[in-house]
Amino acid sequence: MRRRSETVVALLLFCSAACAVAFVVFYAIEKLGRNTQYMGLALGGSLAFLAAALIVTGDRLVETEQIEEEYPLPDEAAQEQVDELVADTGRRFTRKRLLGTAAGLAGASLGAALITPAASLGPVLDTDPLTRTPWRRGRRLVDTHGTPLRADEVDPKTFYTAYPEGADHDLIGSPVIVARLDPGRLRLPRDRAAWAPEGIVAYSKICTHAACAVSLFRTPRFPPTQPRPAIVCPCHYSTFDPAEAGKVIFGPAGRPLPQLPLMVTAAGELAAGGNFSGPVGPSWSEVRNRRAT
Ligand code: FES
Repeated sequence: MRRRSETVVALLLFCSAACAVAFVVFYAIEKLGRNTQYMGLALGGSLAFLAAALIVTGDRLVETEQIEEEYPLPDEAAQEQVDELVADTGRRFTRKRLLGTAAGLAGASLGAALITPAASLGPVLDTDPLTRTPWRRGRRLVDTHGTPLRADEVDPKTFYTAYPEGADHDLIGSPVIVARLDPGRLRLPRDRAAWAPEGIVAYSKICTHAACAVSLFRTPRFPPTQPRPAIVCPCHYSTFDPAEAGKVIFGPAGRPLPQLPLMVTAAGELAAGGNFSGPVGPSWSEVRNRRAT
């Protein structure tokens, strides 16, 4: 009976270890789709098997003896009884190594499963890819179908989403918002004076709060009593002023939207005059000290 309980505990611990390893495998192999249901099942299974192993250990293997009468003074017979009990306990743990191995394996793999998700916090050593964008001087702005965006097609009171010609549209540094503003109301820094030809400005479409796509453009219906045009992120309503270099005027975003310098080609099409004014995407510890590359 006791041997069977020990075997059951060892099996439960091995099952717990196997489930924890399965969690790490689901997490690490992207081809499996990082299915959260499978990961949850694996981690839950690991904890459940561990709990079952502890219950069986506590119930069947830990010696519990309740003495109701007063504890007798030690005598020779009692000493013999104690020796027998110790010997008995020793016999029970002749499989101690098996149980120890199973417990160690379960503990190590469960620990690995618990720290594995820390990898999702992002790259630690090589963070350069986070600041790389496909924008270069002369690269034309195109729509989703690859058609170049002409400056004379950009109407006021609306906005356009554009991408770098020939680059992957899904890159975080690709999409930009383009809008036409009154050139007389632009308040750009002096070194960006030439970044908005004819009052047309472009900013990264990725919110600097938590990387949602900024997809609302507020335009006053009754100027001047209504607020001036603004780019708004629908996630937590960070609001950016396109006339003032993407400055945050409301909401949780901690830094301005990165601005893309624009120029108009001889054919009247919009092209980038260079790279963004700063790193694209959500704010993180290093971001304030770096430039887009
Ligand atoms: S992600 Fe844009 S406001 Fe939060």
